[in-house]
Amino acid sequence: MQPIIEVKDVGVVYGDNTILEKITFDVYPGEILVIVGGSGSGKSVLLRQITGLEKPTTGTVIVQGQDLTSANNDEKRKIQKKFGILFQSSGLFASMTIAENISLLLESFTDLSEDEISDIIDIKLRAVGLDGFRNYLPSEISGGMKKRAALARALALDPDILFFDEPSSGLDPVTAASLDNLIKSLNESLGATMVVVSHDLASIGNIAHRVILLDKETKGIIAQGNAIEMKNNIENEKVYKFFNRIAY
Ligand SMILES: Nc1ncnc2c1ncn2[C@@H]1O[C@H](COP(=O)(O)OP(=O)(O)OP(=O)(O)O)[C@@H](O)[C@H]1O
Ligand SMILES: [Mg+2]
Repeated sequence: MQPIIEVKDVGVVYGDNTILEKITFDVYPGEILVIVGGSGSGKSVLLRQITGLEKPTTGTVIVQGQDLTSANNDEKRKIQKKFGILFQSSGLFASMTIAENISLLLESFTDLSEDEISDIIDIKLRAVGLDGFRNYLPSEISGGMKKRAALARALALDPDILFFDEPSSGLDPVTAASLDNLIKSLNESLGATMVVVSHDLASIGNIAHRVILLDKETKGIIAQGNAIEMKNNIENEKVYKFFNRIAY
């Protein structure tokens, strides 16, 4: 199968600090790929390179056959139009209602009429279990609902690829699990490819089709496979300890 995303030899250097080196992996259409690693291992940084929010210091990112790293702004916008992104903090504008938050994206990327946009908002809010909340401000809903609202916004443009940075962080275990189930069911119903950053082992076990593990020391990927393979990886002590929650 042809990969939908190809990450080749990506390196990221900020000033004198090398954060990532020679990161190479593919993402396949329809899969849920989870990027895991300890705090500070560069998960969020890597996500910013794959989504084109930053240009890597070295290497290339190819999305649906197009080189995102060498694309000009117009080309990049076209590629990014196919993305839905859920940031580590929900990223909703505090002064705008849920509907206005979603509407903003649709107005800037499409020529749809006000009525059409309003219909899409209803459909997306229903898809995440938030119908009836379109006129609420982010501050008026719970943390879990904020994540759902941000997810509805990420779904607004019917993305081919969804990116999530720590979708369940800050949520209680039950709410986190219900968000994971929503992610899984959307993956099945929409067939969208999902790239999820997480360090929550329960969540990884629940949603991941495939996992890559980033390591802060080596600044690279030290293992990949499914969650069970990772948990049973007794050859690599770091991998085993990470997936069996043992401090090292
Ligand atoms: N814009 C930046 N400029 C300089 N250094 C940065 C920048 N962004 C991130 N870093 C550094 O890169 C390293 C990796 O950060 P990153 O946010 O990717 O970690 P993470 O794996 O997402 O951690 P967490 O699980 O805590 O979210 C950190 O040491 C951070 O200080
Ligand atoms: Mg992060």
